[in-house]
Amino acid sequence: MRTQLGVVTGASRGFGLEVARELAANGWDVITVSRGPSAALDAISSITSVRGDVTDMDLDGLLRAVGERPVDLLVNNAGVGGTGRHLHGLDRAELDGAFAVHVWGPARISGALLPSLRRSARPLVVNVSSRLASLNRQAAGEYQQLPTSYAYRVTKAAQNMLSICMANELGPSVRVWAVHPGRLRTALAPADADVEPADAARRLVALVGEDTKTPLSYLSLDEGPLPW
Ligand SMILES: NC(=O)c1ccc[n+]([C@@H]2O[C@H](COP(=O)([O-])OP(=O)(O)OC[C@H]3O[C@@H](n4cnc5c(N)ncnc54)[C@H](OP(=O)(O)O)[C@@H]3O)[C@@H](O)[C@H]2O)c1
Repeated sequence: MRTQLGVVTGASRGFGLEVARELAANGWDVITVSRGPSAALDAISSITSVRGDVTDMDLDGLLRAVGERPVDLLVNNAGVGGTGRHLHGLDRAELDGAFAVHVWGPARISGALLPSLRRSARPLVVNVSSRLASLNRQAAGEYQQLPTSYAYRVTKAAQNMLSICMANELGPSVRVWAVHPGRLRTALAPADADVEPADAARRLVALVGEDTKTPLSYLSLDEGPLPW
């Protein structure tokens, strides 16, 4: 049987690094995209690492690394936080930067890899979302106690719409999941973080293997389906 191929962005550390590690441990071929050097990533010898910023990298290197192989899984994981928590004094550069990473990056990388995804029998794009992207929950005030930036909440919600748009255009043959990984103990950790990124990565890779979700899903790795 053909070895499955997964591409993971933002894999220098945190959740992306652990997803790449877990896929490799489960026998996948893995190509990562990361901005800077990462000793932890370099230590996983079976992984092919492509250097680049998802917002503006030359995509030729990634496409060369993939070659003619089908891409079975694309994990658009790269993400950034923000500091602006009040309407007064919001920084346009922070909003633009977060939009570029959370929306433009996944859109351009998914678009570039679309022919490779279509070569797979069951392609899946996982856009790493957040529970904080849920319009329903935010409108109900569920996360009001969390000191999250406007840039993060607004652009992660926009990324959820990107997932919906992609599923509407590409589905059901290309499946698109918006996945909240859990409250991870990483550099982006929320105040209530309580999950090791390696545990979340194991849950994601297990879920990919089970293939029980609908072609378009918004879900939390520890809570199940989330309201959009
Ligand atoms: N932590 C949580 O509790 C939590 C909860 C919900 C959702 N998430 C989401 O999970 C994903 C991973 O976050 P994390 O917690 O693992 O945070 P993290 O440890 O800060 O990792 C973020 C990763 O994204 C990379 N990255 C950022 N901007 C990039 C760009 N323009 N191009 C390429 N790579 C870029 C970073 O690379 P550098 O090393 O180069 O900066 C790093 O590898 C994010 O999308 C985040 O929004 C996290």
